[in-house]
Amino acid sequence: AESKLWGGRFTGATDPLMDLYNASLPYDKVMYDADLTGTKVYTQGLQKIGLLTESELESIHDGLERIRAEWESGQFVEKPGDEDIHTANERRLGELIGKHIAGKVHTGRSRNDQVATDMRIYVREALEKLSGFLKTFITTIIVRAETEIDVLMPGYTHLQRAQPIRWSHWLSSYATYFTEDYNRLQEILARINKSPLGAGALAGHPYGIDREFLAQGLGFSAPIGNSLTAVSDRDFVVETLFWSTLLMNHISRFSEDLIIYSTAEFGFVQCADAYLTGSSLMPQKKNPDSLELLRGKSGRVFGSLAGFIMSLKSIPSTYNKDMQEDKEPLFDALTTVEHSILIATGVISTLKINKERMEGALTMDMLATDLADYLVRKGVPFRETHHISGDCVKSAEDLKLSGIDQLTLQQFQQIDSRFGEDVKDVFDFEASVERRNATGGTARSAVLKQLNALKNSL
Ligand code: ARG
Repeated sequence: AESKLWGGRFTGATDPLMDLYNASLPYDKVMYDADLTGTKVYTQGLQKIGLLTESELESIHDGLERIRAEWESGQFVEKPGDEDIHTANERRLGELIGKHIAGKVHTGRSRNDQVATDMRIYVREALEKLSGFLKTFITTIIVRAETEIDVLMPGYTHLQRAQPIRWSHWLSSYATYFTEDYNRLQEILARINKSPLGAGALAGHPYGIDREFLAQGLGFSAPIGNSLTAVSDRDFVVETLFWSTLLMNHISRFSEDLIIYSTAEFGFVQCADAYLTGSSLMPQKKNPDSLELLRGKSGRVFGSLAGFIMSLKSIPSTYNKDMQEDKEPLFDALTTVEHSILIATGVISTLKINKERMEGALTMDMLATDLADYLVRKGVPFRETHHISGDCVKSAEDLKLSGIDQLTLQQFQQIDSRFGEDVKDVFDFEASVERRNATGGTARSAVLKQLNALKNSL
């Protein structure tokens, strides 16, 4: 226990397995940079209130930069007593500049406010990177939608053919989800970007450190207003995991659609070879593994959210070691989301569509609603026209016709005398799509408007 930073009152040794169980360095060393930056600004704060001299501060900053260089070049040597990134960096600082000066760095600070600060710095940076990747992904979808605005396809409810839509309308639908994710991310970032530093272990800072100065120095918008909350709040981790889960859910549904559309039975789209893999047994197979992994990994990310929020739920005030369990799920989720956005971007930018197959899948029964709407335009109440159109579908079926458009005018008029010569104009997929020109609809002008609005909001 002698060798430990907190070893003063300890006489017995720690069970070696306990040391392993307790150590977070293997996974929290990814935060080395945030930890060094936090210490840099914290020691500036100490100097400001007279707890460090100018030259002590200079020596500390010099040491911190040398440690940063060691981490960057892979030369940092971990020692058995290093519990986590905070103790490892502090131990190394003592070796580099002497324990007399290094020993002052932690004055008034606790690993409790330190780790909360490091985490927020780390998450903020990771999310800003994801935000950029997400924006590229959305832009890729939008550009594709603009280019392929002419292509029609069946729209589905219950996975049954429902009404004709534009392929771009489908693309725009997911671009809308992902833009909401993008906006949600900016909102989360604003809440993450608050500073716990200077809260001490829990009760606050005994030397009157300027917490506003610390916050500003680290690019945070403000200090967290209560020191107990500052050290124990992990809502920012939960929010990041929830955000990740929701985004992955959207990616998963997007992927599921494309998996279905890429089957031979549909044949609407084809993934580029770069995102397919083969079968070890069946030579003809090309499997959409990229899309399946995107779908599968959404479960993994939700697992991280579910696991951590359960760990958090009964933790009493304020810091408790349970909180160390925030790191692995968080880091895993951030990496998974990053890779998933990049793979999804690759898939959508290289996907081939088969316009003939998409438009060939449109069938006249998908215009039954339009047939009902035709009579509505002649003043018949919709509930009545719904029935009449249903009669037409049934008649065409009974007569074994290939579609409702094959009924003669006479047959239409036998069903309802209000049908006229112009009923034939109903049976045009393009016209059906173009009628849906109210905001959000599938008409060309409405889809282009959606895409423009999305572009402007990014
Ligand atoms: N490695 C710890 C964590 O990640 C750092 C905080 C330790 N604080 C403490 N009082 N033991 O949560």
